[in-house]
Amino acid sequence: MQNKTVRIALTKGRLEKKAIELFADIGYGTSHLEDRGRQLIAQIPEQNIEVVVAKPPDVLTFVQHGVCDIGIVGKDTIMECGGEYFEVLDLGVGKCRFALAGKKNTDFFSGYGVKKVATKYPNVTREYLEGKGVDAEIIKIEGSVELAPLLDLADGIVDLVETGSTLRENGLEELEKIADISARLIVNTVSMKLNKHRIDEIITKIEENL
Ligand code: PRP
Repeated sequence: MQNKTVRIALTKGRLEKKAIELFADIGYGTSHLEDRGRQLIAQIPEQNIEVVVAKPPDVLTFVQHGVCDIGIVGKDTIMECGGEYFEVLDLGVGKCRFALAGKKNTDFFSGYGVKKVATKYPNVTREYLEGKGVDAEIIKIEGSVELAPLLDLADGIVDLVETGSTLRENGLEELEKIADISARLIVNTVSMKLNKHRIDEIITKIEENL
C-alpha cells in the first residue's frame, strides 16, 4: 500500500541527472523529472513520490527539518555541513575526491610560515590542516577555487577533483588526497520510524540495483 507521499530532495545539477538515472533503473517513471523545466517540485505519481530539487546544503536542511524524508547529496556537503540525519547508502555515483592542490613544482609543506589555503569547504579544510599540524589561513571562495593560486591569493587549494583536468589545464597539481567522495542517500530520523515501510522499500530497491 502506498498511502503516504514520500518526499525526496535531490541535489541540483550533476547529481540530479545521476539520481534520475538511478530511479529509472529501479523502474520508477522519471518523465516528470526529466521535463521539469524550471519547476522545483516534480512527481513520480505511480510511486506516490514527490521530488524536490535543491542546492546541496539545502538538501541537508530539508531532510534535517523533516520537510523531505530522503535526500540525495554528495559526501562533500555532508562533511562540510554536518547535521542530524541517517546516512544510509553510498550510491556509488558522483565519485570524486577532496584533495589539496597547488602550483606545479612548489613544495606546499616546506617552510614555517602561515599557509594560505583557498576553498569552498572551510570546515573540511580546517579539520584536514589541523590534523596535519599546518598553520593556515583559510580563504573562502565561491566559484573557481583554482584561480586563487594562479592569482597568488593562496599557496594551495582544497577542492573536489574528478578527472584532474581542471588542475592540469591551469598548471596545478594534486598534492594529497583528503577523502573519497560519492553521492549518499540520507534519511530524516523521524521519517525513518514513522514511514519505515515505504522508506525501507525505496532503500531496498536502490540497494539491490547498486
Ligand atoms: C568541480 C571542482 C573542480 C572540478 C574538478 O567544479 O570544483 O573545479 O569540478 O573536476 P575535474 O577534476 O574533472 O576537472 P564544478 O565543475 O562542479 O563547478 P563548480 O566550480 O561550480 O563547483
